Amino acid sequence: MNRRIALAAVTALTTGLTLAGCSSSGSAPELKVSGAFMPQPVGDMAGGFLTVTNSGGTADKLTSVTSSLSDDVQIHETKNQKMQQVKSFDIPANGELKLERGGSHLMFTAIKKQPEQGETVDIELHFEKADPIKVELPVEAQTHNPKQH
Ligand code: CU
Repeated sequence: MNRRIALAAVTALTTGLTLAGCSSSGSAPELKVSGAFMPQPVGDMAGGFLTVTNSGGTADKLTSVTSSLSDDVQIHETKNQKMQQVKSFDIPANGELKLERGGSHLMFTAIKKQPEQGETVDIELHFEKADPIKVELPVEAQTHNPKQH
Protein backbone atom coordinates (compact mmCIF):
# COMPACT_ATOMS: atom_id res chain seq x y z
CA MET A 1 0.00 0.00 0.00
CA ASN A 2 2.74 2.42 0.99
CA ARG A 3 4.67 1.47 -2.08
CA ARG A 4 1.72 2.26 -4.28
CA ILE A 5 1.37 5.72 -2.77
CA ALA A 6 5.08 6.35 -3.22
CA LEU A 7 4.82 5.32 -6.88
CA ALA A 8 1.90 7.65 -7.44
CA ALA A 9 3.90 10.50 -5.94
CA VAL A 10 6.84 9.77 -8.21
CA THR A 11 4.56 9.64 -11.25
CA ALA A 12 3.06 13.00 -10.35
CA LEU A 13 6.53 14.41 -9.95
CA THR A 14 7.85 13.18 -13.29
CA THR A 15 4.71 14.29 -15.07
CA GLY A 16 5.23 17.76 -13.65
CA LEU A 17 8.86 17.73 -14.80
CA THR A 18 7.93 16.59 -18.29
CA LEU A 19 5.41 19.37 -18.64
CA ALA A 20 7.90 21.95 -17.40
CA GLY A 21 10.50 20.64 -19.87
CA CYS A 22 7.97 20.78 -22.62
CA SER A 23 7.00 24.38 -22.17
CA SER A 24 10.60 25.57 -22.01
CA SER A 25 11.77 23.61 -25.09
CA GLY A 26 8.50 24.00 -26.96
CA SER A 27 9.89 26.91 -28.92
CA ALA A 28 12.41 24.79 -30.80
CA PRO A 29 11.92 22.50 -33.79
CA GLU A 30 13.22 18.97 -33.20
CA LEU A 31 14.26 17.52 -36.53
CA LYS A 32 15.19 14.02 -37.57
CA VAL A 33 16.02 12.73 -41.04
CA SER A 34 15.02 9.27 -42.30
CA GLY A 35 14.71 7.24 -45.48
CA ALA A 36 17.38 9.20 -47.36
CA PHE A 37 18.68 7.92 -50.70
CA MET A 38 19.96 8.94 -54.12
CA PRO A 39 19.04 6.96 -57.23
CA GLN A 40 22.23 6.23 -59.20
CA PRO A 41 22.52 9.23 -61.53
CA VAL A 42 22.76 8.84 -65.32
CA GLY A 43 23.82 12.29 -66.47
CA ASP A 44 25.47 15.20 -64.71
CA MET A 45 22.47 15.79 -62.47
CA ALA A 46 21.28 13.73 -59.53
CA GLY A 47 18.20 13.65 -57.36
CA GLY A 48 17.93 13.09 -53.63
CA PHE A 49 15.03 12.00 -51.46
CA LEU A 50 14.45 11.94 -47.72
CA THR A 51 11.96 12.68 -44.96
CA VAL A 52 12.46 15.32 -42.27
CA THR A 53 10.34 14.70 -39.19
CA ASN A 54 9.69 17.54 -36.75
CA SER A 55 8.67 16.38 -33.28
CA GLY A 56 8.89 19.91 -31.87
CA GLY A 57 6.06 22.37 -31.42
CA THR A 58 7.57 24.95 -33.77
CA ALA A 59 7.63 24.90 -37.55
CA ASP A 60 10.92 25.20 -39.40
CA LYS A 61 12.07 25.50 -43.01
CA LEU A 62 14.62 23.63 -45.09
CA THR A 63 16.48 26.53 -46.65
CA SER A 64 19.51 25.05 -48.41
CA VAL A 65 21.60 21.94 -48.98
CA THR A 66 25.34 21.57 -49.46
CA SER A 67 27.33 18.54 -50.64
CA SER A 68 30.83 17.67 -51.80
CA LEU A 69 29.21 16.13 -54.91
CA SER A 70 27.95 19.44 -56.28
CA ASP A 71 28.52 23.14 -55.69
CA ASP A 72 24.89 23.81 -56.52
CA VAL A 73 22.37 21.60 -54.76
CA GLN A 74 18.89 22.99 -55.34
CA ILE A 75 15.56 22.20 -53.76
CA HIS A 76 12.80 21.56 -56.26
CA GLU A 77 9.09 21.03 -56.13
CA THR A 78 7.10 19.32 -58.86
CA LYS A 79 3.95 20.98 -60.15
CA ASN A 80 1.97 19.68 -63.12
CA GLN A 81 4.84 17.24 -63.73
CA LYS A 82 7.29 20.11 -64.10
CA MET A 83 9.93 20.82 -61.52
CA GLN A 84 10.89 24.24 -60.35
CA GLN A 85 13.37 25.58 -57.86
CA VAL A 86 12.02 26.93 -54.59
CA LYS A 87 13.66 29.01 -51.85
CA SER A 88 12.60 26.77 -48.98
CA PHE A 89 10.38 23.90 -47.89
CA ASP A 90 8.10 24.15 -44.87
CA ILE A 91 8.56 21.64 -42.07
CA PRO A 92 5.36 21.90 -40.01
CA ALA A 93 5.35 21.67 -36.21
CA ASN A 94 4.74 18.06 -35.18
CA GLY A 95 4.73 17.15 -38.86
CA GLU A 96 7.04 16.15 -41.65
CA LEU A 97 8.54 17.22 -44.93
CA LYS A 98 8.62 14.42 -47.48
CA LEU A 99 10.90 14.54 -50.48
CA GLU A 100 9.87 11.64 -52.67
CA ARG A 101 9.76 10.50 -56.28
CA GLY A 102 7.27 12.47 -58.33
CA GLY A 103 7.22 15.26 -55.77
CA SER A 104 9.63 17.56 -54.02
CA HIS A 105 13.29 16.59 -54.19
CA LEU A 106 16.89 17.64 -53.90
CA MET A 107 18.58 18.38 -57.20
CA PHE A 108 22.34 18.10 -57.52
CA THR A 109 23.53 19.98 -60.62
CA ALA A 110 26.88 19.56 -62.41
CA ILE A 111 27.90 16.64 -60.22
CA LYS A 112 31.66 16.21 -59.85
CA LYS A 113 31.67 12.43 -60.16
CA GLN A 114 29.30 9.55 -60.89
CA PRO A 115 28.46 7.90 -57.59
CA GLU A 116 27.63 4.22 -57.95
CA GLN A 117 25.15 1.99 -56.22
CA GLY A 118 26.50 0.99 -52.82
CA GLU A 119 28.42 4.23 -52.32
CA THR A 120 27.20 7.12 -50.21
CA VAL A 121 26.95 10.84 -50.88
CA ASP A 122 27.36 13.32 -48.05
CA ILE A 123 25.00 16.23 -47.68
CA GLU A 124 24.32 18.85 -45.07
CA LEU A 125 20.82 20.20 -44.61
CA HIS A 126 20.44 23.80 -43.48
CA PHE A 127 17.36 25.07 -41.71
CA GLU A 128 15.92 28.42 -40.79
CA LYS A 129 15.97 27.66 -37.06
CA ALA A 130 17.44 24.25 -36.25
CA ASP A 131 21.15 23.41 -36.43
CA PRO A 132 22.38 21.89 -39.70
CA ILE A 133 22.10 18.10 -40.04
CA LYS A 134 24.66 15.96 -41.88
CA VAL A 135 23.26 12.98 -43.77
CA GLU A 136 24.86 10.19 -45.81
CA LEU A 137 22.69 9.33 -48.82
CA PRO A 138 23.10 5.70 -49.88
CA VAL A 139 23.19 5.42 -53.66
CA GLU A 140 20.49 3.02 -54.81
CA ALA A 141 19.44 1.54 -58.16
CA GLN A 142 18.20 4.05 -60.73
CA THR A 143 14.60 2.94 -60.31
CA HIS A 144 14.65 2.56 -56.52
CA ASN A 145 11.38 3.77 -55.00
CA PRO A 146 10.72 2.67 -51.43
CA LYS A 147 7.16 2.27 -50.29
CA GLN A 148 6.57 4.85 -47.60
CA HIS A 149 3.63 3.11 -45.96
CU1 CU B 1 14.60 18.82 -59.98
